[in-house]
Amino acid sequence: MKFIVVLACCIAAISAATVRYDGQEVLRTFPSSREQVDKLATLQETHDFWSAPRLNGPTDIRAGGVEKLELRKFLIQNEIKYEVLIDDVQQRIYWEAKSYSASANNSVNALTWTNYHTLAEIHTFLQDISNQHKDISEVINIGTSTEGRTLKLIRIGANGGTRKKAIFMDGAIHAREWIAPAVATWFVNELLTNRNKYTTLLSQVDFYILPVANVDGYEYSRTTDRMWRKTRSANSGSTCRGTDPNRNFATGYGGPGTSTNPCSEIYRGTRAFSEPETKAMSDFINNRSTANWIVYAALHSYSQMILTPWGYTYDFPPTYTELKNLGVRAANALTAVHRTSYEVGSITEILSPGSGGSDDWAYGSGNFRYSYTIELRDTGRYGFLLPASQIIPTAQETWEAVLVMANAM
Ligand code: ARG
Ligand code: ZN
Repeated sequence: MKFIVVLACCIAAISAATVRYDGQEVLRTFPSSREQVDKLATLQETHDFWSAPRLNGPTDIRAGGVEKLELRKFLIQNEIKYEVLIDDVQQRIYWEAKSYSASANNSVNALTWTNYHTLAEIHTFLQDISNQHKDISEVINIGTSTEGRTLKLIRIGANGGTRKKAIFMDGAIHAREWIAPAVATWFVNELLTNRNKYTTLLSQVDFYILPVANVDGYEYSRTTDRMWRKTRSANSGSTCRGTDPNRNFATGYGGPGTSTNPCSEIYRGTRAFSEPETKAMSDFINNRSTANWIVYAALHSYSQMILTPWGYTYDFPPTYTELKNLGVRAANALTAVHRTSYEVGSITEILSPGSGGSDDWAYGSGNFRYSYTIELRDTGRYGFLLPASQIIPTAQETWEAVLVMANAM
């Protein structure tokens, strides 16, 4: 009898097994020439980069097991400076989990911004708060993910049904970047519960906010693998799952900073919009006749940057000056709140190429005049494992940047 109980316990433990990161480390590297950056960038085929390759760094790379020694050898051989940023990722995952209570809550408007939430909690929140503000908001199901989850966005703005200037925001295109949906839902709450503050803005502008774009990946990062980045679609001929949705958009598709290897963290998928999630986003944007799209803001973490196109080429976009000026104004407004410093520039100016992003597509498809990726807090102290106590300050400061963008319309 005892034996059976023990067995049952262990079977349950195995089926609920989560991916562990014991002894895995994150190295912070400092490539000091373009050649070194390019050399380092080739490791994206096989390694998990926590921040994009950039000249003089910091460029953070995770490695475990034999990879640890191999990575160090590679860095030494190529004379790339490095230091240990995190010596045990699993420890950090524990700390983060301790920073919030994992208790579920599904009551009306029960979302808090002192905690990270499940997809169900986020979706319930969107519906509940929209029900309370039916006159100026609606929840729209824009599609279904690979695993059958709904992609829910909320439109916020007065005079629904009339054509208005519009801003689109995506969050959690990368699953593990939990601060993105936390901030996006804070924006929703701010706009609706303080709607009297935004009467003029909401009469002129529609906000379309998709807090969790990569719904399957987000849930997977909560239940099974905290460091999951990609979608969860199967790849034929490979046991590795997922496509990087931010390499799956059509503009510059297949260009530099992408991989054809399904096991890579920057796998681009079999073709542009192969993922139902990216397809749903682009279809919705293309077909939304009541939206006069002006601003696109993709919410990511981490690095504290406001990035403009292009990501697929080193060329600057035709309206770079305009994009950069607004980006700088937005960053200044952000910094004024809690003195958080941000960098502003084009993706390939500050980082290195990554093709097929939602930001490049928004701009390159001609739909949006302004397009940005906002890399939220922090700069690597906690990285993706940002304590929940930082959600509110991060949201407060980022909101000021978004308001600058919205008011520019
Ligand atoms: N960390 C983001 C990524 O790797 C950067 C996004 C910048 N945009 C881009 N199109 N690469 O996707
Ligand atoms: Zn990202």
